[in-house]
Amino acid sequence: MAPRLRRNVSTGNPQRPANAAGADPAPGVGGGVAVLARADAEDAGGPAAAGLGAAVRVRGLRRAFGEHVVLDGLDLTIAPGEFVALLGRSGSGKSTLIRILGGFDDGVEGEVLAARRRSVVFQESRLLPWKRVLPNVTLGLSGRDIADRGRAALAEVGLAGRERSWPATLSGGEAQRVALARALVREPELLMLDEPFGALDALTRIRMHALLQQLCRRHQPAVLFVTHDVDEAILLADRVLVLTEGRFSRDVPVDVASPRRRTDPAFDRLRATLLAELGVDEIAEGTH
Ligand SMILES: Nc1ncnc2c1ncn2[C@@H]1O[C@H](COP(=O)(O)OP(=O)(O)OP(=O)(O)O)[C@@H](O)[C@H]1O
Ligand SMILES: [Mg+2]
Repeated sequence: MAPRLRRNVSTGNPQRPANAAGADPAPGVGGGVAVLARADAEDAGGPAAAGLGAAVRVRGLRRAFGEHVVLDGLDLTIAPGEFVALLGRSGSGKSTLIRILGGFDDGVEGEVLAARRRSVVFQESRLLPWKRVLPNVTLGLSGRDIADRGRAALAEVGLAGRERSWPATLSGGEAQRVALARALVREPELLMLDEPFGALDALTRIRMHALLQQLCRRHQPAVLFVTHDVDEAILLADRVLVLTEGRFSRDVPVDVASPRRRTDPAFDRLRATLLAELGVDEIAEGTH
């Protein structure tokens, strides 16, 4: 049986609501490693943390809700700058993993280490409706240049000039751009996105893919990207994981030439492999 964890509270304010965008309250506080759970008795900043050399290191992660074991001994390493897509059937535990890595869940067993500077973007933008766009982006940050950094982040996502807009006046795509700006202004070493484009129309999605790729090239965070869309995973990721019954049943590099095209035979083969892993019959379900 896995040893019980010792919860470490070095990641910030335990009162912080689970819908906060940034998992860490302030950027530029020295980076480093957040020890979210550990299986042994070392102190934070001990040998395990000091030697991380990765954006994420998870060993033997187990999460159960009562009798229901959702994550069952997961191991995961994400290298700095690596883009990992996470697929899995509904209820397989993808959001549970994101919540754990975000530092929003302390009921876990195993070892969970992650870059201290990390941000989460959810399917819905989670903007505060009573705050204008700029203060939503800079929420929780402090410092003299915060407004300038917020404006720069908004410009990066194509929303220069919308600083004083109210969230209710934004389109779905614009609201997700603000959510991306809010994540990026924290300069995350680890950016987690939980079905970020799931509620957007197809055209907006394509634009968001291009934007995300551009932002990742510029900022080079490690990325954990949850999606139900196999094509989206192959288009964006360096590596694709499939979560099945609490374990990664697939961990495959995306070996498709860039720019990636859905018509590439290598794309097609990987799509077939991943859909089969997810238990989807391509022909019967009309994915072609
Ligand atoms: N706080 C909780 N209490 C009890 N059960 C929970 C809790 N959080 C998650 N679960 C259960 O854990 C399982 C995994 O949930 P999770 O939200 O991680 O799935 P998911 O893979 O993100 O699914 P989806 O693709 O539908 O978003 C589900 O069966 C869910 O009901
Ligand atoms: Mg989910």
